[in-house]
Amino acid sequence: MTYLDEAVSLETVIRATVPRYTSYPTAPHFSTDVGADAYGGFLDRAAAEDGPISLYVHIPFCHSICHYCGCTTKATRRYAPIEAYVEVLRSEIAMVAARIGRRAVSHIHWGGGTPNLLSAAAFEAIVGDFHRFFDIGSDTEHAIELDPRHLGEERASFLASIGVNRASLGVQDFDPAVQAAIGRIQPAETVMAAVDHLRGAGITSLSFDLIYGLPEQTVSSIRRTVETAMALAPDRISLFGYAHVPWFRVNQKLIDTAKLPGSELRLELERTAHGSIKAAGYTPVGIDHFARPGDAMALALSTRTLRRNFQGYTTDRADTLIGFGASSIGRTPAGYAQNVTDTGNWRERIVGGRFATERGRVLTAEDRLRADVIEQILCFFDVDLSAMAARHGADLAVFSADLDKLEPLVRSGWVTAHGGRVAILRHGAELARLVASAFDAYLGTGGRHSVAV
Ligand SMILES: C[S@@+](CC[C@H](N)C(=O)[O-])C[C@H]1O[C@@H](n2cnc3c(N)ncnc32)[C@H](O)[C@@H]1O
Ligand code: SF4
Repeated sequence: MTYLDEAVSLETVIRATVPRYTSYPTAPHFSTDVGADAYGGFLDRAAAEDGPISLYVHIPFCHSICHYCGCTTKATRRYAPIEAYVEVLRSEIAMVAARIGRRAVSHIHWGGGTPNLLSAAAFEAIVGDFHRFFDIGSDTEHAIELDPRHLGEERASFLASIGVNRASLGVQDFDPAVQAAIGRIQPAETVMAAVDHLRGAGITSLSFDLIYGLPEQTVSSIRRTVETAMALAPDRISLFGYAHVPWFRVNQKLIDTAKLPGSELRLELERTAHGSIKAAGYTPVGIDHFARPGDAMALALSTRTLRRNFQGYTTDRADTLIGFGASSIGRTPAGYAQNVTDTGNWRERIVGGRFATERGRVLTAEDRLRADVIEQILCFFDVDLSAMAARHGADLAVFSADLDKLEPLVRSGWVTAHGGRVAILRHGAELARLVASAFDAYLGTGGRHSVAV
């Protein structure tokens, strides 16, 4: 991107394209130098550390693909490919467990795709493996991403029976015109029924995913969507800006770009949704999350223990996150590792007894320092650079060029930067990605990103 020059308007900020920083360095800066051997080394190093680890399982299958979807998944109506996938997944789990050893698990996360397409037997087998290889306790957070269109009463009870205690539901938008434009018809009653089933089964920690910036959205339609969502009282809400990347996700070519809101309306949609959620009593968390006061995520914000990882904001503090499945990304103290995306290729590698790592990143000392700074900005909208430099044994001077880049934002009165401390004073949710990007040493040398707001 071109960094901000003299005259900064919020408009400029909206148009700036910056990463979402779910990792630093970001995924476009991962390299194929990190493969199976390097990942083995990462796991060996992680095995030498104490403390719990986290597990992420990627299920890249859906019944059909929503037009807007930016996730790595594919459509299938048959169960055979899913069954075959699960078998390989179990081999991968055994392989990683043999290398990292028996560890306590603080967090399990099923993502996708649509994890709920797995049969009960498949869930039981994988969760059984987790119990066999790792220490899963009653305090392990066990979360799943759910599509409300595929969740009956029986399935909700089943998920509770295998230990699932948190669910995030893909709500997106309740407006029928928006739903038609995004290829996802999901009446409010469907979401209400899913919420009832989950609560009835004892899975009471619920989160909703909402998206602004979708085709056909208006200020009044998004206000109604938020009101409907609020009536169901989820504990948390993720309010994502629609990322339109049709060069990367061909299904998004089905979105009529003429119906997409322009940058001004997009900002207004975000403001409206943000304001309505806040007015309903939720605490804004970072750039796109909200939590009820008293919820663990709101607490993590106030105690400055909130973290950010590939799934977004989290209360999980584990330093090692193991990714299972095609395209999954893991983080270890030594670096990041991403599995190959193609499921056939992933299967071939695992069946051949090798890790399926295709790309990744060995972290340098400076990467670690900058990753910490960027995470602080994304989580808390401020950072104590002196403290960060001291923690990493670095000199504050390492940031001098970065601080220069913030000058226009400082002159606008939105950001302060003195005494080694940077704080965003206004428009935090809109500005955090941009302010963080000032500390990104690789910015402008990677792929294309979506707009900041
Ligand atoms: C991997 S999906 C899993 C949820 C589940 N498959 C469903 O659709 O209900 C996680 C969330 O990512 C968000 N998402 C997907 N594509 C997006 C895009 N292009 N821009 C912004 N958010 C997106 C949606 O809010 C979705 O609920
Ligand atoms: S939004 Fe969810 S259901 Fe729709 S295609 Fe993406 S992962 Fe599948």
